[in-house]
Amino acid sequence: MSTALPHDGDRYEDAGSTAPLVTARGLGRDHTLRRERLTGPRPVRTALHEVDLDLAEGASLGVIGESGSGKTTLVRLLLGLDTPTRGTVTVDGRPVRRGRGADLRWLRRQTGIVFQDPYASLDPRMDVGRIVAEPLHALGLAGGAGSDAGSAGEADAVARVLTAVGLEPDMVDRYPHEFSGGQRQRIALARALVHRPRLLVGDEPLSALDVTVRAQILDLLQGLRAELGLTLVLVSHDIGVVAHLCDQVLVLKDGRAVESGATAEVLAHPRAGYTRDLLAAVPRL
Ligand SMILES: Nc1ncnc2c1ncn2[C@@H]1O[C@H](COP(=O)(O)OP(=O)(O)O)[C@@H](O)[C@H]1O
Ligand SMILES: [Mg+2]
Repeated sequence: MSTALPHDGDRYEDAGSTAPLVTARGLGRDHTLRRERLTGPRPVRTALHEVDLDLAEGASLGVIGESGSGKTTLVRLLLGLDTPTRGTVTVDGRPVRRGRGADLRWLRRQTGIVFQDPYASLDPRMDVGRIVAEPLHALGLAGGAGSDAGSAGEADAVARVLTAVGLEPDMVDRYPHEFSGGQRQRIALARALVHRPRLLVGDEPLSALDVTVRAQILDLLQGLRAELGLTLVLVSHDIGVVAHLCDQVLVLKDGRAVESGATAEVLAHPRAGYTRDLLAAVPRL
């Protein structure tokens, strides 16, 4: 695998600093639902209660919990893809705030995300080259005014990241339908990493894959994480995946953090009954 992704001059600006890369304080999200009757207050569903989080650069956090426990809500809030009802998020010491006039390009620059469904997440009308290069364009890092890499730089960046995720650079002219689920997830990973983010977030990125492919992508993630020094937040209902890849774990239940800590510690001595149930429900590796 190649590590020669495009150089990012300010990547190590804060090297030596011990400030966490990601923090959350009292982070919460409510959804106002439709009324069941014609009158009266609209009911509120709390997707996330007050969650606190500190994630150091290079750390890897697994977020586990059953369906509906608030995992996707949490990662969307961390990435500024959703607006919290209460609490704050910072990335690299800067507040993540959405809203009128807010420009979150600085955050996009530092983050990449991979979703669960490799069939839904890639635009079928775009070839692989365009899909993977898209963040470079959105961030102003590819050809054109104000860029810091010409189109040769862009082609290079795409070829290198494709190689890094185990694909052939000459796949750029092909279309998503020509690829299997595992290969599509590699393409999605290439797109998430092409701009050299510091933080990679995966929302169940392995869940739609069959077992052998899952193991391959798991290995790939582990290799990339070490090689690129990535900070990782990985949502998974597969505790085996979290045990393999994450040194910290956060257990969510009904939108509340019921347990968190070092993965080895939590898996060996779960304190919350809910965590014990989660562990009991899966075959141990
Ligand atoms: N837009 C929304 N409107 C109403 N409820 C929502 C919305 N998004 C999420 N929820 C609710 O918030 C809770 C947490 O959802 P989610 O974060 O997607 O859970 P998970 O990813 O752990 O399955 C669930 O009860 C879900 O139904
Ligand atoms: Mg989810």
